[in-house]
Amino acid sequence: MEVKTSLLDNMIGVGDMVLLEPLSEDTFLENLKNRFDHNEIYTYIGSVVISINPYRSLPIYTPEKVEEYRNRNFYELSPHIYALADEAYRSLRDQDKDQCILITGESGAGKTEASKLVMSYVAAVCGKGQEVNKVKEQLLQSNPVLEAFGNAKTVRNDNSSRFGKYMDIEFDFKGDPLGGVISNYLLEKSRVVKQPRGERNFHIFYQLLSGASDDTMKKLKLDRDFSKYNYLSLDSAVVSGLDDAANFRTVRNAMQIVGFMEDEMLSVLELVAAVLKLGNIEFKPESRCNGIDESRVKDKNDLKEMCELLGTEQSVLERAFSYRTVEAKMEKVSTTLNVAQAYYARDALAKNLYSRLFSWLITRINESIRAQAKTRHKVMGVLDIYGFEIFEDNSFEQFIINYCNEKLQQIFIELTLREEQEEYVREGIEWTNIEYFNNAIICDLIENNQNGILAMLDEECLRPGTVTDETFLDKLNTICAEHQHFESRLSKSSKFLTDHSLPHNCFRIQHYAGKVLYRVEGFVDKNNDLLYRDLSQAMYKANHSLIKQLFPEGNPAKVNLKRPPTAGFQFKASVGTLMSNLQTKNPNYIRCVKPNDKKASHIFTDSLVRHQVHYLGLMENVRVRRAGYAFRQAYEPCLERYKMLCKKTWPHWRGPAREGVEVLLTDLQVPTEEFAYGRSKIFIRNPRTLFFLEEKRKRCLEDLATLIQKIYRGWKCRSQFLLLKKSQIVVAAWYRRYAQQKKYQKIKRATTVVQSYARGWQARKLLRELKYQKKCEQAVTTISAYWHGTQVRREYRKFFRANAGKKIYNFTIQRIMQKYFLDLKRNMPSMSPIDKSWPARPYLFLEGVHTELKRIFHLWRCKKYRSQFTEDKKAVYEEKLKASELFKDKKALYPSSVSQPFKGDYLEISKNPKYQKLNNAVDEKVLLADVVNKINRANGKGSPRLLLLTRRSVILADQKTGQVKASVPLADLASVSVSTQMDGFFALKLKEGSASAVKGDFLLSSDHLIEIITKLHRISASAAEREPINVDISDEFLVQFKHDKVCVKFIQGSPKNGNSASCKRKNNRLLEVSVPTSP
Ligand SMILES: Nc1ncnc2c1ncn2[C@@H]1O[C@H](COP(=O)(O)OP(=O)(O)OP(=O)(O)O)[C@@H](O)[C@H]1O
Ligand SMILES: [Mg+2]
Repeated sequence: MEVKTSLLDNMIGVGDMVLLEPLSEDTFLENLKNRFDHNEIYTYIGSVVISINPYRSLPIYTPEKVEEYRNRNFYELSPHIYALADEAYRSLRDQDKDQCILITGESGAGKTEASKLVMSYVAAVCGKGQEVNKVKEQLLQSNPVLEAFGNAKTVRNDNSSRFGKYMDIEFDFKGDPLGGVISNYLLEKSRVVKQPRGERNFHIFYQLLSGASDDTMKKLKLDRDFSKYNYLSLDSAVVSGLDDAANFRTVRNAMQIVGFMEDEMLSVLELVAAVLKLGNIEFKPESRCNGIDESRVKDKNDLKEMCELLGTEQSVLERAFSYRTVEAKMEKVSTTLNVAQAYYARDALAKNLYSRLFSWLITRINESIRAQAKTRHKVMGVLDIYGFEIFEDNSFEQFIINYCNEKLQQIFIELTLREEQEEYVREGIEWTNIEYFNNAIICDLIENNQNGILAMLDEECLRPGTVTDETFLDKLNTICAEHQHFESRLSKSSKFLTDHSLPHNCFRIQHYAGKVLYRVEGFVDKNNDLLYRDLSQAMYKANHSLIKQLFPEGNPAKVNLKRPPTAGFQFKASVGTLMSNLQTKNPNYIRCVKPNDKKASHIFTDSLVRHQVHYLGLMENVRVRRAGYAFRQAYEPCLERYKMLCKKTWPHWRGPAREGVEVLLTDLQVPTEEFAYGRSKIFIRNPRTLFFLEEKRKRCLEDLATLIQKIYRGWKCRSQFLLLKKSQIVVAAWYRRYAQQKKYQKIKRATTVVQSYARGWQARKLLRELKYQKKCEQAVTTISAYWHGTQVRREYRKFFRANAGKKIYNFTIQRIMQKYFLDLKRNMPSMSPIDKSWPARPYLFLEGVHTELKRIFHLWRCKKYRSQFTEDKKAVYEEKLKASELFKDKKALYPSSVSQPFKGDYLEISKNPKYQKLNNAVDEKVLLADVVNKINRANGKGSPRLLLLTRRSVILADQKTGQVKASVPLADLASVSVSTQMDGFFALKLKEGSASAVKGDFLLSSDHLIEIITKLHRISASAAEREPINVDISDEFLVQFKHDKVCVKFIQGSPKNGNSASCKRKNNRLLEVSVPTSP
């Protein structure tokens, strides 16, 4: 729940000066000092906030503070600038009333800081969002830029605003900021060329020289040394606590955020640099023949650099510093300038350059921050304008500034009174006229169009003939002499003739805030604000986009012979616009007060503050506010605050709040003239009545506090007692339970001991009996076991040892064998007869069995393999087997024959018609038919013959005719001879004395030698009555040719006809067969 508080709570002094009792300047100051000493820098006068500069940072601007003051009523919390900002913002947002915040006070009183605080508060509490935040940021960031170019260190303030600023912040219907517009008033441009002792030029000059990068410095042709520039005062170039270099970065950053382009920033800096260079241009006199001195530029280097920066022609500018052209009615007259005039022209150019640059900056910022939307805006204006100034030496600037303050005071009085009056009407309270000083008469003295001081100054400036400040003063002396607020030594009014405090060259005005003495020197010049046309034209010619814009009057095409409006005239016009603008808005005042002249914290100089209180018209303000009724408050918070003072309203009043307040005041017997009932507020005439109420409330609160305390203490003690009682019961119960538990446990333990002893005794007794019984049983068992053992051993001894070993052995062997066979079964090798593998033997004693089994298995496998063969196939294999028996490892030809199947009938004799006759001649089955070579014994050459083999005979026939040449019965064959070599030669040897032997043996050669001999041998062996034919294998054997025996010898060599063997007759007894070397 939100706690309703009031400004009246925990007040130091009084938070609202309206409540000051008694009211006098002394009590007023006393109250301010008291609060200032307690860090309460804000005090109200009704809705006006007085702010005293603390000159140190106080922890009262935190985000938490913002939250605290957000959406709270003005008088709910202790005075704060946030309360004013919140009130203004809420009535703008919720009641659609345009607001203006008028911040006044003297230099260094904290106006600029206050304006920033108001802006930051509004930025913190208004809507959020990407676009809105950008607008806020741009509005806030416009401050550093303007401060850099428009503020300077003065003796009164290290960051003194040297221009007046009014900023309209625009909001949409939701209260979100849309943008803003800044107006500026009269920049103190004289500072550009000359600064009073102990003061500086505008910050930007120092910031640029300290903070710019080397690159930029080079571009701008600048040197970091301040002493190189005439326009920069040196005695306070460095200000403690002010970091120019860092501020330069801040300014550049702020310019970027506000929306300045890089080239725009550079242009601006070029102009600043140009002003510095301009200050360094010096002149020397040059005598002319007519005896008049003419000025000449002394050292042209700076002029050259400046011209390069601005893009102007050096000669044009140089001439503009030496001559002045006056145009009148189509006539041009050129006059020379002397050195003093040249310096005047130079400074006028510098001042104009800078002040126009400043105005351009504001226009440029406005372009960026101006609200885009065309819808109606709500506006909150913040006015941070120079305060009333009274110096020892006051000039035109002070006159203008003080005029502005007069106007503000006037609007303040008007608006405050109007507001006051409106409230009375709104509340239905009778309005009593208030006596107050109206400063309209002073405003009139200054601004009256006929005989006002400004009008007369303008008149003097425009008047032909010699015009000096003195002629102007004379004019004032004649025209304003009668005015009651104008004082001058030489005025007609004789009363000042002897006033020595009023010098002859001065006039004095009794401003609302005090008398100010103005020295007329410079009034005319400053009002004229003259810049020679030659200079503005030279500037217009510059090849620099920004400069051209700044000097539009230099355009020769638009020569205007009319004088430009005077400074006074311009200012009056802009103040007039400002005033009418402020009139349309709901005003909120912040009146800043400077506590001391030393810029120091904790020092409150009475005289200084008194002076400010005086000229700010603060007492006047309080009096106006208090003239009718000093205090007013809505009925609800009033009843809420004081209801405890009456039994009827305490603690709750059920009816309307107004009636409650009536009952309350009647009950308290407050005199009826002390208050009036408005529609929604109670008006209290005298602060004393309020303090009476407050005092009573305080006492009542004390009583109430005591009552509450009493009840609370009673309640607390009682609840503590009840708690103690409850605790005691719990503790007692726990203790009793514990004690009983203990007792029970003790008895239980004792019982258990007794029980255990008894049980132990019983058990032991039983145990003894059982043990005895058991022992008896064991004895019986042992005896019987022994007995039975003896019996059994006696009976079985004979079997026992003799059989056990054998059985175990047999059993073990059986298991081993079983396992062996099972393993063997599992690891049986393949059924291929050529597979040599056989599982490993597990035990040595199985060696014999294992080898035998391997052999048996192999035989069985072979048998199985053989059993697959048919009879024919078997015969083929038998033949092959026979061939192997005959020739293996004996004849080199044999291995090549193994793979050749024995075909037998190579001639296909029964089918081939060519051999039909021969077939018919042989009456038996032909087992082999082939072509062989019969070797001629005469030359060893072979001639082909058909060789047929039957069961009974070998037949040789002519290959062509098929006629049988010889038929040898097998019984006549004695043997066959072959060599060991690769050749196919074989000799069929006949039995001596047989019928066939007549012709002699046959020496033949065949490719199928192995087959022929094998078949021959098999056939001869199959005949029961005969011996099988002998097969002689030797490399030398004898062949019987008719009567001769010829030796056939086989030698290894390279026969003539390639790979086959060749036979050659060597002599009568020798036939040599050369056989190719076996591979
Ligand atoms: N509320 C504040 N809290 C802390 N310091 C403050 C406060 N107000 C002002 N100051 C200090 O006082 C100095 C001067 O304040 P500021 O520049 O606002 O004065 P001013 O009234 O604008 O003066 P001028 O008329 O010369 O511009 C500030 O630089 C700051 O150091
Ligand atoms: Mg300021």
